[in-house]
Amino acid sequence: MKNLLAILGLRKRLTLLLSLLILASGATATVTVAATAEEFTQPIAFSHKTHAGTNEIACEFCHTSARRSITSGVPPVRTCIGCHTMVKGTTETQKQEIQKVVDYWDQQKTIPWKKIHDLPDFVYFSHKRHLNVGFDCTECHGDISQKDEITMDNMATDLSMGWCVTCHKDEHPAVDGKVIRPLRATRGGKILEEANLAQQNGIVQGSKDCLICHK
Ligand code: HEC
Ligand code: HEC
Ligand code: HEC
Ligand code: HEC
Ligand code: HEC
Repeated sequence: MKNLLAILGLRKRLTLLLSLLILASGATATVTVAATAEEFTQPIAFSHKTHAGTNEIACEFCHTSARRSITSGVPPVRTCIGCHTMVKGTTETQKQEIQKVVDYWDQQKTIPWKKIHDLPDFVYFSHKRHLNVGFDCTECHGDISQKDEITMDNMATDLSMGWCVTCHKDEHPAVDGKVIRPLRATRGGKILEEANLAQQNGIVQGSKDCLICHK
């Protein structure tokens, strides 16, 4: 909170008030409580294929906290409205769905996105750690940029302990402590054809210690 205020302190008073309001509502978006399967229909038909695929918007443009915090979070309405005061949509359905975004913004309400990927509370997982060591979003989420909808059924993994531990046992070829991966233009984006892979000089491995994941 101290850092946050320091950053915001640089801004004018009015913007500060507004930002705090938005930040506060943005923060609540990440703690949407899991519900039963029938309740997983999202409030707005938002397509990753349109945004990350067709329009090539980088994952981290919206999921800004992935690299910096333990969660990736879901973007606040402010992120959407930057484009959607201008972009109104082509098809009737698009126009209707985009209008909903504008309505949330006008009412200064948080979009109640449902959380799909959700580990139990007794498991500790950090995005930051995995991204900093060089993994790409696709490694764990598959090619989200080709999905119109993210559901329990099309999730790339079951988020089971076996899934985590299997990868932690692997010896990942690395250069200077970072895993060697195919190069991509943006995280989660298409693999760049003919991009050279650096020469391996080590490996990285996750831990099998129970207390790493169960603190
Ligand atoms: C960088 C610009 C940009 C940002 C940021 C952005 N959008 Fe979009 N959005 C687009 C474009 C471009 C389209 C496609 C419009 C078209 O084809 O006419 C689109 C389409 C849509 C649609 C229509 C259905 C679909 O996905 O095809 C919805 C709903 C939508 N956006 C919601 C959102 C929400 C919610 C956010 C914030 C989380 C957001 N958008 C952020 C550019 C953006
Ligand atoms: C224009 C903004 C935008 C971009 C770009 C974007 N996302 Fe998202 N993402 C969202 C929104 C809004 C949601 C919540 C609605 C949903 O689940 O579709 C979401 C949800 C998700 C979820 C599921 C969250 C959950 O509850 O389990 C994952 C995983 C995800 N995004 C990964 C990615 C990846 C990987 C990329 C890049 C390929 C990406 N996103 C690009 C806005 C964006
Ligand atoms: C090492 C595997 C791994 C990588 C790499 C990864 N994720 Fe995730 N992601 C997960 C897991 C596991 C969860 C569930 C976390 C939870 O429930 O606490 C998750 C959840 C999410 C969510 C739901 C909200 C949240 O933070 O819990 C979003 C959005 C998301 N990831 C986006 C991304 C994006 C964008 C990238 C790339 C920048 C990425 N992830 C890279 C494993 C990964
Ligand atoms: C794609 C392979 C991969 C997957 C999948 C994966 N991890 Fe990891 N994880 C790693 C690697 C490699 C490291 C070591 C990173 C480093 O050295 O900085 C790591 C590090 C960690 C750490 C930090 C360990 C420490 O020393 O503090 C935690 C905690 C963790 N993973 C938890 C999980 C959990 C929980 C899951 C499943 C929900 C998971 N990981 C899935 C590869 C993976
Ligand atoms: C790399 C991360 C990781 C490590 C290391 C790990 N676990 Fe887990 N563990 C998980 C995840 C993720 C789940 C939740 C699985 C789910 O929801 O299906 C889990 C679930 C569990 C559960 C609950 C099982 C259930 O059916 O609900 C127990 C008990 C458990 N772990 C014990 C251990 C013990 C003992 C160790 C050490 C030998 C260990 N774990 C090491 C990630 C890990």
